[in-house]
Amino acid sequence: MTKPLRIGIAGLGTVGVGTLEVLSAHAETFASRVPRPLTVKAVAARDQARDRGVDLDGYEWFDNAVDMASGDHVDIVVELIGGSDGIAKELTEVALANGKHVVTANKALIAIHGTALAMAAEEAGVTLAYEAAVAGGIPIIKALREGLVANRIDRLYGILNGTCNYILTEMEQSGRNFLDVLDEAQSLGYAEADPSFDIDGIDAAHKLAILASVAFGTAVDFDGIHVEGIRHISPIDIEFACELGYGIKLLGVAARTAGGYEQRVHPCMVLESAPINHVSGVFNGIAVDGNFVDTTIYEGRGAGAGPTASAVVADILDIARGNPVPVFGIPARNLKPAQTVDMGRHRGAYYVRLTVVDKPGVFADIATILRDHEVSMESVLQRGRAPGEPVSVVMTLHESLEADVVNTLDAMASLDTVIEAPCMIRVETFA
Ligand SMILES: NC(=O)c1ccc[n+]([C@@H]2O[C@H](COP(=O)([O-])OP(=O)(O)OC[C@H]3O[C@@H](n4cnc5c(N)ncnc54)[C@H](OP(=O)(O)O)[C@@H]3O)[C@@H](O)[C@H]2O)c1
Repeated sequence: MTKPLRIGIAGLGTVGVGTLEVLSAHAETFASRVPRPLTVKAVAARDQARDRGVDLDGYEWFDNAVDMASGDHVDIVVELIGGSDGIAKELTEVALANGKHVVTANKALIAIHGTALAMAAEEAGVTLAYEAAVAGGIPIIKALREGLVANRIDRLYGILNGTCNYILTEMEQSGRNFLDVLDEAQSLGYAEADPSFDIDGIDAAHKLAILASVAFGTAVDFDGIHVEGIRHISPIDIEFACELGYGIKLLGVAARTAGGYEQRVHPCMVLESAPINHVSGVFNGIAVDGNFVDTTIYEGRGAGAGPTASAVVADILDIARGNPVPVFGIPARNLKPAQTVDMGRHRGAYYVRLTVVDKPGVFADIATILRDHEVSMESVLQRGRAPGEPVSVVMTLHESLEADVVNTLDAMASLDTVIEAPCMIRVETFA
């Protein structure tokens, strides 16, 4: 009789309880799909008395999750606690050092310590699996690491944070401002009480760092990512974007360029007709360009108990089936340094909105600054006329070097007639 694969689940919140539910809901199907029986042996969380809506009788309880990983209690540790450091990191390190497979949904942990943890896992001959850490229920790690393995990945981009996508979608559909919609997202449970990880782009950057590593075979480089959030996006920018034929999305973009790898998270104007622009609300969407396959697109729920647990359980079943693949697609010791390109060297098109005093000569000053910085304008829009009053002037700029655009905007900001900091949004031409 084959020995069962013993599972220990650390963290019994949204994803931990979801994982227990998925494991029990389809237990019979799983038994027919993997060569070893699966059994949940142990669980760990902080408060044993808390009612979690699932029956925990029959599982060994650990107040200290690290103890669960250190003895001969389980074969797989499922880390569903969260946080890049502290208990989640210690638990993962101890589990790997003790020859246990680890499955985690923890993007912060993998984005910051992924390369070292991958080395530890591969040295110990065990699996470190993290499908649930990126885009919840979308099997994007498997797609990149296995389904697209025949390709050179040249670029991937995507909506990696459902909270931001919900806020931007609602702002576009209702015309409300950012703070109003954030407030609503918090009351609906789509945004945390402290929303900064989501709205400042950090959560999306964690996920992008992981995706870029798998796509390019590079060490995870969270610190190299250029990160901007969505706090500065205003209804007027969304209106102008619509008028110009674009939508605004917070995207993570990782691209192979002649000078290295671009890794960036920031709001983007994308063509109204582009598939990524049609990923709305809390959904995530990712497009991957492979040299043989061309563009493939993945869309689905990026969070929530069911979608995230679906990915956690897929990783558990993969371990039970055997046939391990290296953590980031190639052995961790062979991951190349990321050589992330500085954002100043990015070339792209730009949307710029200036708030200026409506008086003669303003356009001449702006045109002179553009000429002096060798940045060329594609189009210009002015909303209304109000002599002596502030008006919005919107320009789109032809493809330019970002460093030149930044210098141009600094010069414009110093004009007496420009009365607010210019708003700049990068324009992406995904078909
Ligand atoms: N929620 C999602 O939709 C989602 C989606 C993708 C990825 N993730 C990731 O999945 C992980 C878990 O997220 P979640 O939403 O399930 O979090 P959660 O609901 O806040 O649950 C966290 C769990 O960790 C336990 N915990 C906290 N500190 C602990 C400690 N020192 N020792 C043992 N247990 C401890 C808590 O125990 P108590 O219950 O006893 O307090 C709780 O059960 C995170 O890495 C998150 O980023 C979540």
